[in-house]
Amino acid sequence: MNLKSEPIPFALPSIGKEEEEAVLRVLRSGWLTTGAEAREFEKEFSSYVGSRHSLAVNSATAGLHLCLEGLGVKKGDRVITTPYTFTATAEVIRYLGADPLFVDIDPETFNLDPASVIRVLKCEKGVKGLLPVHIGGRPAAMEELIRIKEERDIFLVEDAAHAFPLVYRDKFLGTWGDAGVYSFYATKTITTGEGGMVATDNSELARRISTMRLHGIDREIWDRYTSKEASWMYRVVEAGYKYNMPDILAAIGREQLKKAEMFFRKRKKIAEFYQRTLGELDFLHTPSSGGENAWHLYMVRLKTDKLSIGRDTFVKLLQAAGIGTSVHYIPLHIMPYYKDKYGYKPEDFPNTMKVFKSVFSLPIYPGMSEEQCVRVSDTVKNIGEAHYRGIH
Ligand SMILES: Cc1ncc(COP(=O)(O)O)c(C=O)c1O
Repeated sequence: MNLKSEPIPFALPSIGKEEEEAVLRVLRSGWLTTGAEAREFEKEFSSYVGSRHSLAVNSATAGLHLCLEGLGVKKGDRVITTPYTFTATAEVIRYLGADPLFVDIDPETFNLDPASVIRVLKCEKGVKGLLPVHIGGRPAAMEELIRIKEERDIFLVEDAAHAFPLVYRDKFLGTWGDAGVYSFYATKTITTGEGGMVATDNSELARRISTMRLHGIDREIWDRYTSKEASWMYRVVEAGYKYNMPDILAAIGREQLKKAEMFFRKRKKIAEFYQRTLGELDFLHTPSSGGENAWHLYMVRLKTDKLSIGRDTFVKLLQAAGIGTSVHYIPLHIMPYYKDKYGYKPEDFPNTMKVFKSVFSLPIYPGMSEEQCVRVSDTVKNIGEAHYRGIH
């Protein structure tokens, strides 16, 4: 087999013997749903990120929904977030009948721009909280956003779906605000296939989430069946959801957590390699590899005025050469749902549109070989040079 011509996938989970054995252990244990594994995963996660509580859920979407519900978001409320994200970030606001209030991004970091947040807060009413995203793993401007949260006395929930396990200024991303939500979706920095974790120091919020993630029952199913005082008695105190993480997934998560630091080092090394090989190219903006980043995504921007082809053709040519590529993200305000519901126009968020038109993401995952990294960067270079038209 000629490995050179083998396609390089855009993303690939790193699953080893340890995860396989952990799943078998659970399958043979007779307890498949939420139980001891999920509980251990939560404890281990809390001691890893330094949060008082961790709550395992079946997706980050579920975790975000639970956080907003627990913080009291209601119909008619507004939550500030970025249009430059995946729809999960904003849809959870709609689940509660509230409205996302999109604010433009900083074109350098692709994250919520605090100066624009301040401007919007001066003229908009009904804002209950901030929901920043650490896009691709790059930290949002947390100091400024926390200052705004405190001055305004509103909540801040971090969408940390891309941000594990980055320590930013001595604190894990996801532990800065009232709560942080991590994703363990198949392409994320650690994975359970589907899954997520909420981290919070707020005990009242943790209690509410713990009830709401399992049908609004005030005790976990695990307690009912396995604790010393096990009984058939339970009380439904709310119309809750079915958002608990099963032990099969939690067992995978525990093994992935042990490898998180090693995965991170490998992704960082790939980012440094891309920076060395692509950083000087005249037709490309690369993210600074010196800056802090969890490197879930390696997002680059084409300087389209230097090329005779646009981003879409560039990505097609990469794919034709067997390099898995993706575009993160198609802005939410141009998606039919948000556009029709709120009457947004593309030009309402100029920085978001500017970034979207030229951005694409290259493969970056621990299982990539050196040869694959070289092939990715050589192919980018070759396509760019073949369509280079210099300064116009
Ligand atoms: C920024 C962002 N937030 C939230 C989510 C939702 O994550 P999950 O698939 O675990 O629900 C995603 C998923 O890709 C995401 O990219």
